[in-house]
Amino acid sequence: MNPATPALVEVDRVRKLFPKGSGDDLLVLDDVSLTLRTGEIVSLLGRSGSGKSSLLRIIAGLMPASQGRVTIGADAVEGPAPGVAMVFQTFALFPWLTVLENVELGLEAQRVEPGERHKRALAAIDLIGLDGYESAYPKELSGGMRQRVGLARALVVHPKVLLMDEPFSALDVLTAETLRTDLLDLWHEGRMPISSILLVTHNIEEAVLMSDRILVFSSNPGRVAAEIKVELPQPRNRLDPTFRRLVDDIYALMTARPTGKAMPGLFPGTGIAMLLPRV
Ligand SMILES: Nc1ncnc2c1ncn2[C@@H]1O[C@H](COP(=O)(O)OP(=O)(O)OP(=O)(O)O)[C@@H](O)[C@H]1O
Ligand SMILES: [Mg+2]
Repeated sequence: MNPATPALVEVDRVRKLFPKGSGDDLLVLDDVSLTLRTGEIVSLLGRSGSGKSSLLRIIAGLMPASQGRVTIGADAVEGPAPGVAMVFQTFALFPWLTVLENVELGLEAQRVEPGERHKRALAAIDLIGLDGYESAYPKELSGGMRQRVGLARALVVHPKVLLMDEPFSALDVLTAETLRTDLLDLWHEGRMPISSILLVTHNIEEAVLMSDRILVFSSNPGRVAAEIKVELPQPRNRLDPTFRRLVDDIYALMTARPTGKAMPGLFPGTGIAMLLPRV
């Protein structure tokens, strides 16, 4: 990705504290800065509890930061951000609505008129491979199909930025892989009505498979501890030795044991914002 490409999302020194019942607040995100540019898929890779979902909620404007700011395009995020859509780990569909109604819902909030709503929802359902299931209810669908509905509901609003919070982690291995591949195909064919994707994951292979850049998140508090560019051509092959080496390197980085004096908040055994060699 050309660094001259204009920033689409800018997260600038964001801190987040949650009040704890007793005494001090819980510092979840500390001094998090990142940039998302048009045309790229960036992964946020971190352990459970490192504050990834909190950061996504702040970017989407669903929760305020305690300090720092987020801008999307030229606008500071101060409430639910237009141009941003989110896909959740647990699908979050309305069980009493059909597939079509679930997908249309995203457009109702935007006051799109019913004819146009219908047309765009059908197009999103078709794009995501659920043609023929428009009138099915969520309970009639497999997990993989439900997540496709979640994806169609996010895409139907034609957001600039798609935020995905562990979208494959509730699916079995094979279903998850099919959905990843389908998503990457749509992206690389230029058929997704979006400009960039921020993907939250704790799965190293998934991050290497899908992203142009990986931001490795440290825990307690969450910080961007390393940035890794993945320059392997797409489609990527998990068995490629370069792919394997990168996965191993990131694993080592994330599980490094203290080797002496650790920097507080960073991965023990790594330097500040350690950069892995480019591949
Ligand atoms: N609304 C809230 N009020 C208080 N504490 C919260 C709130 N939301 C999150 N937390 C705390 O913030 C920390 C980070 O949570 P968050 O859900 O952002 O982590 P995560 O990286 O997404 O984890 P996971 O991979 O398990 O989804 C956790 O310790 C959690 O308990
Ligand atoms: Mg989470």
